Amino acid sequence: MIRSRRDFLRSLGVGTATGAAALHWPAGNISAGLSPEMARAGGPGGFILLNNSENPYGPSHRVADAIRASTGLANRYASMKENEVRERIANHCRVKPEQVLLGCGSTEILRVAACAFLGHNKKLIQALPTFEALEDYAKSVGSEVIRVPISRNFGHDLEGMLSHADASTGIVYVCNPNNPTGSLTSRKDLQTFIPKLPATTQIVIDEAYHEYVIPTGIYSSFIDNPIDDDRVIVTRTFSKVYGLAGLRLGYAVASPKVIEKMRAFLTQDSLNSVMAEIVGVALDDVGAVEEAVKRNHDDMQEFLNRAVTRNLSPIDPHTNFVMMNIQHNAAEVIEHFRQHKILIGPFFPSMSTYIRVSMGTPKDMTAFWQAWNMLPWSNKVMHH
Ligand SMILES: Cc1ncc(COP(=O)(O)O)c(C=O)c1O
Repeated sequence: MIRSRRDFLRSLGVGTATGAAALHWPAGNISAGLSPEMARAGGPGGFILLNNSENPYGPSHRVADAIRASTGLANRYASMKENEVRERIANHCRVKPEQVLLGCGSTEILRVAACAFLGHNKKLIQALPTFEALEDYAKSVGSEVIRVPISRNFGHDLEGMLSHADASTGIVYVCNPNNPTGSLTSRKDLQTFIPKLPATTQIVIDEAYHEYVIPTGIYSSFIDNPIDDDRVIVTRTFSKVYGLAGLRLGYAVASPKVIEKMRAFLTQDSLNSVMAEIVGVALDDVGAVEEAVKRNHDDMQEFLNRAVTRNLSPIDPHTNFVMMNIQHNAAEVIEHFRQHKILIGPFFPSMSTYIRVSMGTPKDMTAFWQAWNMLPWSNKVMHH
């Protein structure tokens, strides 16, 4: 995952000082909800973006309309709306407003969790590989980070994680479904695991991709089906299925005491005033979320079919991206796609022959496979 806009520009070979002004965002595919000027599917320099697990179609028609109707609020802080947004989300999650913390994306929630529960002499335990934002923040506050390789079925190795947990463990991070593998960790195993953690350890369950999980017996959200344990912090976001990554709203659900502890480290007034206005519309548009999930499922199925005919081994995805073994050095393949103006997920050293591909529009994915077919060895893989 590219961590900052500066890194992103650097990854494109563009200097931040002079390059930014020269960049333009060409109109790409027209999304379901936005006008052509607003629906910019391509990134700077016309890159097809299959790298950040965004929703390539953007927000729903209703949400897009609400965004357009709210642009007049751009000059206002959203402070007066904050309680209302928190109540709206609390209602959605069936919890009390004092159990909800709003963040500038769920990334901010991960940052404030690090500030509140990590630091020198406090360690973070997480999977390898997993989403790395919390790890970065943990290091920035001086924490040691223990990375426990995922198990053979690509779920978290909870026993392994537990074996490292002691009184100095500030946070155990469980990303479920996991990024970058798209895999699930079983609810039953988590429920056995959590009570065994030290009393002073928080467990952060990152449910950024929750909505994409097609109901299955092994998965259950810790917001929808909470357990009575003050150590649990669940994070969610509007960046994925809602198609609102750029408007930056994520949230945590936890006990009021834990929320208060994290609140002290929040950026003040970070709530986006347009987002504050439209969040209710997004949450009410249940049909649009269902449609987005179905569309992702269809796009994914199409992708998996094409991958399997090429003898590739994708990890069963429960997300809007897929990690697959290409049996070649992934760094070279990532660079190959970049040369063809397609950005895919970053290189994961612990899974050096895997690439992570976020679902794009059908047109994006056609471009992906065209570029794939240009790999010098792609035929060999196909006819193995
Ligand atoms: C697992 C996971 N958590 C959190 C985030 C952060 O998303 P945001 O800050 O946009 O809510 C991402 C983004 O890719 C993610 O993959």
